[in-house]
Amino acid sequence: MARIGRRVAIVKGLRTPFVKAGTVFGELTALDLGRLVVQELIQRSEIDPHEIDQLVFGQVIPTLTATSIAREVVLACGLPRRIEAHTAARACATSLQALVDAANSIAVGTSEVAIVGGTESMSDPPIFTSRPLAQALVQASRARNFSEKVKPFQKLKPKDLLPVPPAIAEYSTGMTMGESAEKMAKENGISRREQDELSFLSHQNAAAAWKAGKFDAEVMHVPVPPAFKQVSSKDNLVREDTSIEALGQLRPVFDRKYGSVTAGNSSPLTDGAAAMLVMSEERAKSLKLEVLGYLRSYAFAGTDPADQLLQGPAYAAPLALDRAGMKLKDFDLIDMHEAFAAQVASNLQAFASKDFAARLGRSAPLGEVDRSRLNVNGGSIALGHPFAATGARIVTQTLNELKRRNQSTALCTICAAGGLGAAVVLERA
Ligand SMILES: CC(C)(COP(=O)(O)OP(=O)(O)OC[C@H]1O[C@@H](n2cnc3c(N)ncnc32)[C@H](O)[C@@H]1OP(=O)(O)O)[C@@H](O)C(=O)NCCC(=O)NCCS
Repeated sequence: MARIGRRVAIVKGLRTPFVKAGTVFGELTALDLGRLVVQELIQRSEIDPHEIDQLVFGQVIPTLTATSIAREVVLACGLPRRIEAHTAARACATSLQALVDAANSIAVGTSEVAIVGGTESMSDPPIFTSRPLAQALVQASRARNFSEKVKPFQKLKPKDLLPVPPAIAEYSTGMTMGESAEKMAKENGISRREQDELSFLSHQNAAAAWKAGKFDAEVMHVPVPPAFKQVSSKDNLVREDTSIEALGQLRPVFDRKYGSVTAGNSSPLTDGAAAMLVMSEERAKSLKLEVLGYLRSYAFAGTDPADQLLQGPAYAAPLALDRAGMKLKDFDLIDMHEAFAAQVASNLQAFASKDFAARLGRSAPLGEVDRSRLNVNGGSIALGHPFAATGARIVTQTLNELKRRNQSTALCTICAAGGLGAAVVLERA
């Protein structure tokens, strides 16, 4: 399929370190993290903020006091007020959605230069009240005297007073992500050993990338409040010293009796933010900016969440490849978001499966992924997964690696809640 509209350049990307929830970024909000990464991205890319006309940003678990996170990032950064902003949402594929939203407006000419990305603080999730307590509070707020104010609370049971954390579970099925990964492992015959091997590689590759200095230019340093004496400069989830044996000893979390999904082969709950500077190819040329890569095609797709929740990439990737006019073997690098090792293995299996291709109405499967090109600098299991930031992390990491290798094309995929899948095709020249 020919490209529609103008070509969209990704000029630069940056992220904060990704850290385990409840650790070094415990005092920072998602807005703080988003502000820090956008301010530093603008400084490092030396773009005049007046060149920017749009900011598209997302947060999957929202801060309820700042729900329009994109606009709040513009305001908190002190950027020109005329920069318009909107909040993008597509669960774990949120910052890919932010990229695509900006790319579409750049392609049709309604925008020239945009900042896109996402931020997440799992250290600061919204904690809800139960529905009966919320209803009592609303009723009490309308009361005209003391006895009317007290009355709604008299009906409450002790359990109604318990706080309700946000669920990492499907609204439609009630199943958690981890339970869905278990289901996929069982239905697709993914062994515990295969999951642990994928996780081990994720840590090995991420640790090697850090050691080689590959992340130095794409991960900023964050002074940590309240004292600002400590500076976070590295992801704190990567385990250089993990082993298949150590992973093999961890107990299953989501199905304790018969399961295979553990803390070691799941992505952890993470804090962090990531952002990218994108613009029309023409504007990048006129500003004489070095372009990291271009968005060649993208696709989103959906599947039944009650079937195999995290199989979305296997539905989205064929569409993105068709739109790019490319075959799987054409890609120099492939980055598949690792929600769970069982999900990565299941998607790779579907990529290569004739039966799966037939289900999609395709004459042939995409093919086997060359593992030496897959998640070469580690994935979300080792690096962490601040939901809304992961897409921007993956695109930046992949384009920087293509540049280092002097190679040209990459496929990036993300599975997302609701049975959604996202895929983007990137090219350097
Ligand atoms: C799986 C999950 C419940 C684990 O949470 P947790 O119990 O806080 O995990 P921890 O980091 O404390 O790890 C548990 C144990 O495993 C160990 N462990 C974890 N990864 C390990 C590794 N790679 N190698 C060796 N040990 C490891 C930890 O050291 C810890 O051991 P300890 O209990 O002796 O301290 C949590 O990460 C989770 O919910 N993940 C899924 C998030 C999700 O659904 N994401 C959506 C995807 S799209």
